[in-house]
Amino acid sequence: MDRKDKYYTRAKKEKYRSRAAFKLIEIEKKYNVIGRDDYVLEFGSSPGGWTQIIREYTDMPVVSVDLNRMVPLDNVIFIQGNINDGSLHDKINEIMVSNGIKSFNTVLSDAMVKTSGNSEMDHYRSYELCENVMKLSVDLLSKNGNMLLKQFQGDMTNGFLDKWKGNFNFYKITKPHASRAHSKEIYILFKNKH
Ligand SMILES: C[S@@+](CC[C@H](N)C(=O)[O-])C[C@H]1O[C@@H](n2cnc3c(N)ncnc32)[C@H](O)[C@@H]1O
Repeated sequence: MDRKDKYYTRAKKEKYRSRAAFKLIEIEKKYNVIGRDDYVLEFGSSPGGWTQIIREYTDMPVVSVDLNRMVPLDNVIFIQGNINDGSLHDKINEIMVSNGIKSFNTVLSDAMVKTSGNSEMDHYRSYELCENVMKLSVDLLSKNGNMLLKQFQGDMTNGFLDKWKGNFNFYKITKPHASRAHSKEIYILFKNKH
């Protein structure tokens, strides 16, 4: 498989930190997830391709979280932290208070561990990240807020949708062209929180 495909080449040319940037561009063009005045909370941000795109769509400060460090970007508050660690909620709250953020309008997660090749295990780990992102952030999301989460599709995906969709007016599974065709990766979009 050629990992240096057309999206990789475009990312280099357009100075995006990852080819993943094009997935968010595609989803944003189709579903309009981020508004100009939105406070965005982002999980799994490093190396920062999505963060660069979020910065293009909103004028407000962005809060980005990842296990791995990220080279700083203007108007981005970075938290090095673990989605699966309960103390992350307090860290996010501290950042909100010190920056006058009452709630987030949009929460995005592109978080994923390195895939193992075992599709059941990859699905379970990705499902667990999505569950913890929801638990961490659903109460930080404003009324009418949107969420977009990457998940490796599997047996628990429908249960995940059933559990969380009731909080929103609209939900959709989408797979951008920039996702590799053979990958089980999907993006779950929830729009307009009640
Ligand atoms: C596919 S990469 C994200 C790429 C990024 N969206 C971009 O456009 O540059 C997935 C990221 O999820 C992060 N991640 C995985 N597990 C995590 C966890 N438990 N907590 C926080 N971040 C995690 C990884 O460190 C990795 O940087």
